[in-house]
Amino acid sequence: MTAARTPSIDIDIYSDELTLRPYEAYRQIRDAGPAVYLAPHDTWVIARYENVREVLKDTDTFSSAAGVSLTAPVNEITKGTTLASDPPEHDTLRAIVASSLTPRALATRKPGIAQQAEQLVAGLVERGEFDAVTELAQVLPLSVVPDFVGLPQEGRDQLLDWASAVFNAIGPPNERSQRSLPALAELGEYAGRLANSGALAEGSLGAGVLAAAADGRIPATQCPALLLDYLGPALDTTISAVGSAIYLFARHPEQWDKVRQDPKLIPNAFNEVVRLETPIRGFCRQTTRPTVVGGVEIGAGERVLVLYASANRDERKWQDPEKFDVTRRAGDHVGFGYGVHGCAGQGLARIEAHAVLEALAKRVSAFEVLGTDRVLNNVIRAFSSIRVRVTTSNGV
Ligand code: HEM
Repeated sequence: MTAARTPSIDIDIYSDELTLRPYEAYRQIRDAGPAVYLAPHDTWVIARYENVREVLKDTDTFSSAAGVSLTAPVNEITKGTTLASDPPEHDTLRAIVASSLTPRALATRKPGIAQQAEQLVAGLVERGEFDAVTELAQVLPLSVVPDFVGLPQEGRDQLLDWASAVFNAIGPPNERSQRSLPALAELGEYAGRLANSGALAEGSLGAGVLAAAADGRIPATQCPALLLDYLGPALDTTISAVGSAIYLFARHPEQWDKVRQDPKLIPNAFNEVVRLETPIRGFCRQTTRPTVVGGVEIGAGERVLVLYASANRDERKWQDPEKFDVTRRAGDHVGFGYGVHGCAGQGLARIEAHAVLEALAKRVSAFEVLGTDRVLNNVIRAFSSIRVRVTTSNGV
């Protein structure tokens, strides 16, 4: 007998309104129970911090292998990625994808990225006014990631459109995800062409994937999927976090003052940004057997949406969760996920974001927001534009 789907809630968290302003809805879902059936999307949702960690840890019960999207055709397209796999296969794929993303492997990249951030920020600050998304947050990932993955020139100018399509597609089968399917298919074809032509720079992440196939660790047919592991999540996420950081520091000048006075706070401040404005709102799992979450029974074969963005504001875990506080112990947020699927690229994202914030802290004493636009995406929470005027530290 299937367990009753209760408690249940009738909120479309993917409506335009709640996509832009989701936090009150997340609170209602947290208050409704440790696991709640989200009727409009025919999925369970886990919104409390403790239960999010519990579910992410139990990969035997909460499987990623059926895909992490709420849209069935998207789960077909992403089959074979590290993201959409379970142990033990996951561990083999993860070792390949993450081998060049370890702190040790990234250490050699750090000085170059810091230098790029310094140059970029110096030029913008000299101008006094700029767009903190299109002229700053997007620029570093777009220059670092494609080289790191070893991409040829072909396709680079489409990466942002494709990444946005990936995150729309991971949502429910609404208009936004349907509209993104052709772009997702294009990205799949691009990954296929890269894998077949071998046109990936020597020593790059992408070349590492092809090498794994050449020495028999994975079948060659799996290379496009592993390239998708890089092409999907590596850009929009970091762009979102850096944009949100600048917006939050503009709105909370006393927090920026703390960071300027003590730049050693930057790593924690970045965690606090990812906690408060979590770039990826949530991904799915599927139950492999009947289970119980916090006393709520969930049947086998059910979709379960894990809301990282809600867990990061759960009042059961965080004091004053809505407050932006760069001195809070923010390190155990789940904005990069948790457990075996915890973000493989977070080291790179941190290097990029820290470099931008360090370069800004040296030069900018205050930000004034002149105007903003938000992205309307099923999964990514981000600004498409933040126009700012900066006051420089020497008073200009
Ligand atoms: C601020 C930036 C970023 C955020 C917030 C973020 C967030 C996440 C989250 C929440 C997951 C967990 C997925 C799950 O639970 O199913 C994840 C996984 C992953 N991320 Fe990131 N990510 C960021 C940057 C990056 C970058 C720069 C890369 C690549 C260079 C990357 C590559 C990956 C990969 C390959 C996985 C799958 C790991 C696995 O399944 O074992 N991410 N990321």
